[in-house]
Amino acid sequence: MNTLTIAIAKGRMGEKGVSFFNGTPYEIVRNGDSRRLVFEDKSGTINFIFVKSADVVTYVERGIADLGIVGKDIILEENKDIYEILDLKFGTCRFAIAGHKDQFPLKKDGVLRIASTYPSYVESVFREREQKIEIIELGGSVELAPLMGLSDVIVDIVETGSTLKENGLVVLEELDSISGRLIANKVSYRFKYDAIQEIENVLQEKVALNTAKAK
Ligand code: PRP
Repeated sequence: MNTLTIAIAKGRMGEKGVSFFNGTPYEIVRNGDSRRLVFEDKSGTINFIFVKSADVVTYVERGIADLGIVGKDIILEENKDIYEILDLKFGTCRFAIAGHKDQFPLKKDGVLRIASTYPSYVESVFREREQKIEIIELGGSVELAPLMGLSDVIVDIVETGSTLKENGLVVLEELDSISGRLIANKVSYRFKYDAIQEIENVLQEKVALNTAKAK
């Protein structure tokens, strides 16, 4: 019988999350390129479900999944009632305010128009500031917004910085650091503490191994 359900984001981030279980008793059994969204691990202890990254936190908050692996960017944007229990230290990048370099220091007398795919996060960043803002929510390719005059600046993820550079933009202010995180449902964390602790220990070892390898 499966003891735990773990929600993992589909796509790039998710694949890295899956690799954390390789070589452990909880390795995911996947036969070929299936479109299935539910998989078991080798030991039959865990059910893995694959969902959109923003939905990982929803599944975990509502207790459908006991644990989740998701980027800190999603955790900050979704602001759900969950525990963040481990920094998995992959997919490392950061949030930043970016724009044309003559916009520094970042101030505008009127309303500063900010394009982003993370509207709630932007709101939280500017809540305590004097600057008036208008958030323009986009689905992606936000670097285009200041180039086309849709916004003054953007708030987005910067990893290598090459997307900004290729579009003639610069980081105006660095914000929160981002990486993959292990999250837990609050009730599961209490009532399935031992099982969760075991997974946490396995992942912690992997993090230590990856960190040692990177040195
Ligand atoms: C992300 C992000 C930036 C880019 C940053 O976009 O939104 O555009 O990566 O990476 P870099 O600093 O290494 O250039 P993603 O590729 O996920 O696609 P999107 O534009 O559709 O969001």
